[in-house]
Amino acid sequence: MVRTSKRIAINTGGGDAPGLNAVIGAVVRGALHRGWEVIGIRDGYAGLLDTSKCLQLGRREVRGIAHLGGTILGTSSSGNPFEFPVGGDQTVDRSAELVKNFKRLGLDALIAIGGDGSMRIAHELAKKGIPIVGVPKTIDNDLNGTVSTFGFDTAVTVATDAVDRLHSTAEAHRRVFTVEVMGRYAGWIALHAGIAGGADVVLIPEIPFDIEAVCRKISDREAHGRHFSIVVVAEGAKPIGGQMTTKGPAEPGREVILGGIADQLAVQIHQETGKETRCVVLGHLQRGGRPTARDRLIAQRFGAAAVRVIDRGESSVMVALDPPHIRTVPLEVATSRMKSVPLDGDTIATAREIGICLGDE
Ligand code: F6P
Repeated sequence: MVRTSKRIAINTGGGDAPGLNAVIGAVVRGALHRGWEVIGIRDGYAGLLDTSKCLQLGRREVRGIAHLGGTILGTSSSGNPFEFPVGGDQTVDRSAELVKNFKRLGLDALIAIGGDGSMRIAHELAKKGIPIVGVPKTIDNDLNGTVSTFGFDTAVTVATDAVDRLHSTAEAHRRVFTVEVMGRYAGWIALHAGIAGGADVVLIPEIPFDIEAVCRKISDREAHGRHFSIVVVAEGAKPIGGQMTTKGPAEPGREVILGGIADQLAVQIHQETGKETRCVVLGHLQRGGRPTARDRLIAQRFGAAAVRVIDRGESSVMVALDPPHIRTVPLEVATSRMKSVPLDGDTIATAREIGICLGDE
């Protein structure tokens, strides 16, 4: 007899992003609606290596969580089962153990909510026979195959609010502010918040900058009676011929930590222009707290779609936003490259045409 009822699992991996709980809630409701069971895996993929971290999720567990930041399941940026850290510089491959636990728990499919790292792990696990559906999460918006990830809109909203607020204090003191935003190797948050917040300079990893061009813009504003300037800089921005600024080498099984470029720029701008310059690093504030309405909506659409995808027997795919639809893309496509800001797109053209300096001219 064919079993129609399913037992599915869900985990949240990598850095958190506003909207994770909204996805979890939609998955649980969509599955219960079909008479299925949902098992929540705590702490990302690591939770499937220790089955005491698995819990049954019902309506009670997901009641009233869609508007909350963080994740009720916890997450981990160091739980890659293929390179599991075991102390010092050592990592071991524990993927076979994970596959065994997945089968022992009687699971039919896993919904993996994560960014590029989590989707790469999902792709590898799919090759080992685990039916997986990915859900694209990251404030960085750098996942290929989807117009947008959830979490991005909240990060842009927080960064835009910060730029708005800095305007009055910058103007009052006739200062320059450098504002560092997240985004890793992509400039989506910086570009969108910079335009929305009315920044004068926006520096993104896709366009290496010339410090002289940046200072020229600030001095031009000064000459025209605009005695303050706001420079929004992505954490991954770098000068022409230079490197990204990092906080030391990466730990085993982890990504390198970016950061510090806004501070360096503030020193250089002060030296070149004589302007008093202050630096603000927004950091994890961009990831914390309540998701925007837009993020709550796409998170829930992604969650419900992931269950639908399992219901029709599809796997090794990621749900993706292709307005007005949610479609699927193969995990292979989602992980094939990073989605950078297109330099020939209208958002870059808009920035230039409204007078924002992008550091290259
Ligand atoms: O990928 C999301 C992100 O917030 C990046 O923008 C940032 O570089 C990184 O994670 C920070 O990671 P962590 O939480 O480990 O400091």
